[in-house]
Amino acid sequence: MTLVGRRWFCIAGAALLASFSACKKPGGGAAPGGSGSVTTNESSGLIVGHYASLTGNTAHFGQDTDKAVRMAVDDANASGGVLGKPVKLTTLDDRGDTAEAASAVTRLIDVEHVNALIGEVASSLSLAGGRIAQRRGIPMISPSSTNPKVTQVGDYIFRVCFIDPFQGKVMATFARNTLKLDEVAILKDVKNDYSIGLADTFKASFTALGGKIALEQSYSAGDTDFSAQVTAIKATKAQALYVPGYYSEVGAIARTARRLGLKVPLLGGDGWDAPELFSIGGDALNGSYYSNHFAPDGASPKGKAFMAAFKQKYGTEPTGLGMLGYDAAALLFDAVKRAGKLDGAAIRDALAQTKGFEGVAGTITMDKDRNPEKAAAILKIVDGKAKYEATVGP
Ligand code: PHE
Repeated sequence: MTLVGRRWFCIAGAALLASFSACKKPGGGAAPGGSGSVTTNESSGLIVGHYASLTGNTAHFGQDTDKAVRMAVDDANASGGVLGKPVKLTTLDDRGDTAEAASAVTRLIDVEHVNALIGEVASSLSLAGGRIAQRRGIPMISPSSTNPKVTQVGDYIFRVCFIDPFQGKVMATFARNTLKLDEVAILKDVKNDYSIGLADTFKASFTALGGKIALEQSYSAGDTDFSAQVTAIKATKAQALYVPGYYSEVGAIARTARRLGLKVPLLGGDGWDAPELFSIGGDALNGSYYSNHFAPDGASPKGKAFMAAFKQKYGTEPTGLGMLGYDAAALLFDAVKRAGKLDGAAIRDALAQTKGFEGVAGTITMDKDRNPEKAAAILKIVDGKAKYEATVGP
């Protein structure tokens, strides 16, 4: 586990962007510096813990999210902090590993004395961390975990994104009604709660619409050889292949499919959302589609302003991870202000009462299960780039 210090990438001209404090100096509540430093709770200001995959196979998830969470903290501190005190942020790297996620959360609570947690991206890791947060009465907001089980862990666990029964239905409906497909094969990651859940909801929706699942095959995160699965799928009448996995394997699966002559489009979900998808998959992904939390070319004015500020600060545009990371942190600050204190139960109650919170990736109203209802975007991959295709409302 690595304790990550603050990184500042200031770019001249960023001050032109009034909001999102693209180029502000760190506030008084900067996160602790180098490795080994520890936050104490001497300050009575809000202390936020973020656990994220800053390294490992899905490093894009954690890095993009953490950059955005840092921007939200800077913005809050630039406008006077929360409850009159600067916000402190401590991020711990869980390397995309379930056991590391659990120990990061334990450490954030026991050693860093956080008042609230942000994390994780991956549903399996949010489940591991969430169980600890729930037991300790520390509110947690997952920016982007979509498996329904995550918030079912308990009443301290929230998210700012849609859930997979919706996401699976969106792609199934698109495949059946827009692409007019009759048969689709599925290739899922059996070590990943998100992948298993999304495969199930896609299957239920696609078959309910009269479609047929030609074949279901599986892999495990970290696998590099997918030729047996692709060969089996090639022998069916599948007109598309649904791969609800993470970008790290999806790119390699696409390349294997093309190499072995499986030419049908691939279909996927939010786990595809990383620039690395295209560097790994290259041309093999052209003609494929995936559902996501936002499409850069379909973003709201508030979303576009955030994207511009992020780009000025970090040199690259955020993915959906960054958008949702910013919203998770901004919603937390809003809830703490509404709660008027740092008490876990009070913050939880305020989060539960969230109505019409305007984020950079859509508007958030928490339902009784602590999930917001939000629209999904469908993107098509054309010339190695994701292009906005459609938006599907909740
Ligand atoms: N929704 C994925 C999960 O629950 C995580 C994810 C979100 C990945 C957004 C990429 C983009 O595991």
